[in-house]
Parts: sequence; C-alpha cells; structure tokens
Amino acid sequence: MKKIISLVLVALIAVSCVMGLASCGNSGSTDSKAADSKTEEVKELHMATNAFFEPYEYYKDKKVVGIDAELADAICDKLGYKLVIDDMDFDAIITSVTSGKADFGMAGMTVTDERKKSVDFTDTYTTSTQVIIVPEKDSKVSKTDDLEKASIGVQLGTTGDIFVSDFKEAKIERFKKGADAVLALTKGKVDAVVIDKQPAEKFVEANEGIKILDEPFAEEEYAICLKKGSDLTAKFNKALKELKKDGTVQKIIDKYIGD
Ligand code: ARG
Repeated sequence: MKKIISLVLVALIAVSCVMGLASCGNSGSTDSKAADSKTEEVKELHMATNAFFEPYEYYKDKKVVGIDAELADAICDKLGYKLVIDDMDFDAIITSVTSGKADFGMAGMTVTDERKKSVDFTDTYTTSTQVIIVPEKDSKVSKTDDLEKASIGVQLGTTGDIFVSDFKEAKIERFKKGADAVLALTKGKVDAVVIDKQPAEKFVEANEGIKILDEPFAEEEYAICLKKGSDLTAKFNKALKELKKDGTVQKIIDKYIGD
C-alpha cells in the first residue's frame, strides 16, 4: 500500500513539474502567443483584418488580396515571418490584437486617438478620407448637412460610423460589411452610405445607379496596429521605411488603385 501511495505521489510531482515548466517557458516572452507558437520552423505572424474592403483587402479566387495583404506580406518577408491572414468583423480586430490572438491588425485602419488608447500604431503607409455615396437620381442627400435628416448606412465601428454618430437626428444603420451598407443603398433602404474613398469608388464601379458626392472631409491616415508595447512595432516601422524608400509601397498602391 505504502509503495502505491509513494508511486502516485511521485507521478503527481512529475506532472506538476512538467506543467510548471511549460508555463515558465511561456511567461518570458514579450511578443504575442501567435508569434511564439512556432519556434523552430518559420514563425507565423497573424494579421487581423476584415476582407471586404477593396482595394485594401478582399477575396479573389478564395484568397485575400489587396494593398494591405501585399504590403503585410512584404513586411513579413523582410522580417522573416510567414504571413497568416485572419478575416473577421472590423470591430473585432482591435480586441484580437490586444488579446494576442493576432499579432497585428491591418484593415485600411485609420489612426485615431481613441484607438491609440488600446493599441500602438506604426507609421502611416497611406491616407484616405470619408465620402458620401448616394443614389444617382433623386437623392435626398446632396451635401454633408443633409445627412442630419437622412437614414445613413455605415460599417460598424469604423470612422464613418463615428463621424455620422454626430448627426443626432439621423437614422443610422450599422452593417457588419461596407458592402451590405451599399446593398441597402441600392435597394433604397438607406439614403446614403458614409465610407472610405477608395472602397467607395470600387462600390460605385461595381453597382449601377449610385455616385459619390463631392464634399470635403478631413484626411485620415492608415496604419498598422499592434499590441501596446510590442517590440514588433519598431521592426515593422523599419521594414515600412525601407519598403517606402525602395518604391515597393507605391508600387503596391498603384497596382490596386489605377488613376
Ligand atoms: N478607415 C476606416 C476605419 O478605420 C474604415 C476601415 C474599414 N476596414 C475594413 N477592412 N473593413 O475605421
């Protein structure tokens, strides 16, 4: 009996040692778990995005392509990582980065002070503005102020959403995808859609009967977000700088935004 008890004890001690060691091994790292999951082979970096935002990220032949996808690939290449793209709702990206599920977020994401409270941003890689899309004919909205009396479609959690939230009288419909907001517009379910300029141009190209209003909006800067304090941010900035200098960034943008 004594022998059995001591055998069990030895086994228990062994098991707890192994578990202790395992957790010790993890606690020392500063980068997120996703980056650490593969130690020996090529390490992966997980990019959180919302891939319904042409020309920045969208599906082509079941693959996510676009400016962000290609630029992320170029950065990962430089840093010796393999890029893995995780597609999700736009409003889940920041949580995914802060929790360490993803290593970075890249989604035509505008740098805002509010977002800076939860994540760090790299240097900016391009700029954009918000625009208003309306029906080509008989539009209820012909200038920004008209939004006050309108029903407006936006993508949930975007800067377009934040912008229209100031119109207290307006009826705001928040959609998971920008494309769904545009669909509602083409069906006459909303009077206008507020969204970033380049995706808006792609939507207008792809849908009959809608146009972009020529109204001025403030410029927004797009950047990559990372977990606060991540040592990847400096590496990303270094890679970005080199890719700007050698013309890669511009080449990628030109490839997707032909003027
Ligand atoms: N620039 C806007 C923002 O940061 C919209 C981005 C939406 N991106 C997307 N991939 N759906 O809020």
